[in-house]
Amino acid sequence: MIRDLPSLAFQGVSRIFPGGVHALKDVSFSIPAGGLTAVIGPSGCGKTTLLRIAAGLDRATSGSVNFIGPDGKTSARGRENLSVCFQDARLLPWRNVVANVALPLELSGVSRVERLARANQVITAAGLAPAQTRLPSQLSGGMRMRVALARTLVTSPDVLLLDEPCSAVDEFTRMQLDEEIRRVWQVSGATTMLITHSVSEAVWLADQIIVMNVGSVHEIHRVALPQQARDRTSTAFLLEVETVMRSLARAAGVVIA
Ligand SMILES: Nc1ncnc2c1ncn2[C@@H]1O[C@H](COP(=O)(O)OP(=O)(O)OP(=O)(O)O)[C@@H](O)[C@H]1O
Ligand SMILES: [Mg+2]
Repeated sequence: MIRDLPSLAFQGVSRIFPGGVHALKDVSFSIPAGGLTAVIGPSGCGKTTLLRIAAGLDRATSGSVNFIGPDGKTSARGRENLSVCFQDARLLPWRNVVANVALPLELSGVSRVERLARANQVITAAGLAPAQTRLPSQLSGGMRMRVALARTLVTSPDVLLLDEPCSAVDEFTRMQLDEEIRRVWQVSGATTMLITHSVSEAVWLADQIIVMNVGSVHEIHRVALPQQARDRTSTAFLLEVETVMRSLARAAGVVIA
């Protein structure tokens, strides 16, 4: 699918909350069009605040977040066609899987026939068809997150913002969800920001990793491994993980051997 995807540029973003909490201080980096950038950093360093500002759910005190079109000009399209997935699946408990996945289309006034067709398409692609009539309470935590990811895809977003979608699941389920995130990213082709606490997840999925310390960018790391050759047990992969882990430790002021 060839589309005019936007890049996402954070330029000197600061956020001071009432009470004086300086959550972000002059944060600048760009996510290339169609790229997947992971953001990692210690708890409270401002990752969610950054995502909320990008999504238009909060405002920067100074600086800006711009979606830049292929012509180099600021484009409104990225913000208009953006999907967010939070750490908790946030499914509506009284709606079954199909009705949850179709919700964003319903809110934007898409006809019932079309929204069911599109919801069924992403549900089938995610391997969730056998569970499509179940309620969230009848799903495992990992399945609920897969439904939430399917819901982010149903609008064919240009920009995907994912806030720790795998943090509430065990290591094995996380690896399965990582496969799903990679598939979602590749199918959608969207410019993607993934917040995570897992260095290994960041290295497995991202082409760029933003390492944050409290409120600011500590280091920008480019992942040199080819996307399709990311074997979690290979020496090259483990060396990359070690490099990012050391950067994160420096950012957090922790000494590791
Ligand atoms: N609405 C708010 N009002 C005041 N302070 C806030 C608000 N939202 C966040 N903060 C503060 O801003 C800082 C950054 O919070 P944020 O949630 O962005 O961190 P985070 O990196 O996402 O942390 P975690 O990894 O634990 O999710 C924290 O000190 C937090 O207490
Ligand atoms: Mg957070």
